[in-house]
Amino acid sequence: MGSTRILNTQLLERVMSAEDAAKLIRPDMTVAMSGFTGAGYPKAVPAALARHIEETHARGEDFRIRVLTGASTAPELDGALARVDGIQMRLPYQSDPTLREQINAGRIDYLDIHLSHVAQHAWFGFFGKIDIAIIEVSGVTPDGQLIPSTSVGNNKTWIEQAAGVIIEVNEQQPEGLDGMHDIYYGTALPPRRRPIPLVHPADRIGEPWLHCPPEKVIAVVKTNAPDRSNAFSEPDEVSQQIAGHLIEFLRHEVRHGRVPASLLPLQSGVGNITNAVLAELGKGAFQNLTAFTEVIQDGMLDLLENGTLSVASATALSLSPAAVTRFAQNLGTFRERIILRPQEISNHPELVRRLGCIAMNGMIEADIYGNVNSTHVMGTRIQNGIGGSGDFARNGYLSCFMSASTAKGGAISRIVPMASHVDHTEHDVAVIVTEQGLADLRGLSPKQRACEVIKHCAHPDYRPMLMDYFERASRESYGKHTPHLLNESLSWHQRYVEQGTMRDPKWP
Ligand code: COA
Repeated sequence: MGSTRILNTQLLERVMSAEDAAKLIRPDMTVAMSGFTGAGYPKAVPAALARHIEETHARGEDFRIRVLTGASTAPELDGALARVDGIQMRLPYQSDPTLREQINAGRIDYLDIHLSHVAQHAWFGFFGKIDIAIIEVSGVTPDGQLIPSTSVGNNKTWIEQAAGVIIEVNEQQPEGLDGMHDIYYGTALPPRRRPIPLVHPADRIGEPWLHCPPEKVIAVVKTNAPDRSNAFSEPDEVSQQIAGHLIEFLRHEVRHGRVPASLLPLQSGVGNITNAVLAELGKGAFQNLTAFTEVIQDGMLDLLENGTLSVASATALSLSPAAVTRFAQNLGTFRERIILRPQEISNHPELVRRLGCIAMNGMIEADIYGNVNSTHVMGTRIQNGIGGSGDFARNGYLSCFMSASTAKGGAISRIVPMASHVDHTEHDVAVIVTEQGLADLRGLSPKQRACEVIKHCAHPDYRPMLMDYFERASRESYGKHTPHLLNESLSWHQRYVEQGTMRDPKWP
């Protein structure tokens, strides 16, 4: 069977159908897959596996597997396997509605782990033996090296740790991706670790290809399908207001000499708000920026194209279909400005601290003291997962969290007395931004922080309720350092669960 993308004869001999490859996977196996925010995930084998699982269930037999990935994937992987009840355990970040529903119904054990921790936890043996890795690549070199696809994620570790490897060669991924990756093979387990030799986002410290011993490859499957990333909507008014506050703050920081005019390497979470921030950054106030981040989304591509951003280091390209076309048409420019690395490097705390990243991420809610919940709605229902937000929030130079001040048409305040789940503590959070304004929490005590958050970030409908809570807590709290009324602090969430609104009927 000929192929222009599989140039190694040994691997060419292992080409088979997705169905045959899927049959190599058996119940209770731990299967590690490529894929990061809708990019570079296997497109054919998981879908064939889902069909196989469905047939097995129809015969009354159990068939569920443990699924490890880089981060979120797409309906063809998470959605397909969740729909047939084929997942018993999943880690790390996910965003598929069917998968989320099953996790929240208690049918799937979901392990929400910092993205920089996943590879090392696999090396530490915390996830047990990895049976099979399924990895999408964009090609195979004559000597059997794997040319990575649109994401790197944990692929290096999955290939090294798995007993057998299934490779999907996706002929639709641009051939020009070759050379854009930087796979670092210098990590080690403690106590043998050495400093990672990266001092600028543009540094290349590794190799362009993934190594995989040919004897490990149990199947090669040819595919020809696009990544499934969503189109971004034009920034709405709220996102633009949030972006405006943040940009004004960054200008203020430059004026006060705390950051250089070209800022510090940017980390930008995914979503429409961060895309709006990137759009604002591209309006000319800043030049020569760099990014050391997880994902390159549309907004960052614009900045790379118009030169505002000189280089972007990430682990995945999460682009809308229109941006994918632009990327493919302008590969020459992007190849010089984009570096894709394993997520243990793109999110490495040592590097985030060294480079002094400016971290900008979304949140579910924040409390008046600056504790941030990124993951759990009403403290109990997982939304997506912590992703890389913790890697950057704890270790960056500046840690900013952003969201609208309310959710569900105003029935929920995203500024609450006490966060119903805490991913980022008050010690990690420097700045909170909503469309109402920006609270700069640096150098403030808890009570000072509460006043800033209520005054600048809360929606006017909830501001008096929050101030009333804070004032009563300041008088009546058991301790007066971080005042709380313990029998009332989570009552807003309980009211929403029972009555569908956080609004208190006592308040007009
Ligand atoms: N209570 C209840 N529901 C809430 C809520 C709250 N406090 N805050 C948000 N929601 C709901 C929204 O209503 C929306 O639901 P819908 O889809 O049914 O309309 C959903 O949660 C998403 O909210 P939205 O405001 O659109 O969020 P977003 O797209 O900006 O994402 C996070 C916000 C927190 C979910 C997202 O940033 C995330 O997953 N963060 C964690 C990982 C991360 O930071 N990764 C980047 C690191 S590199």
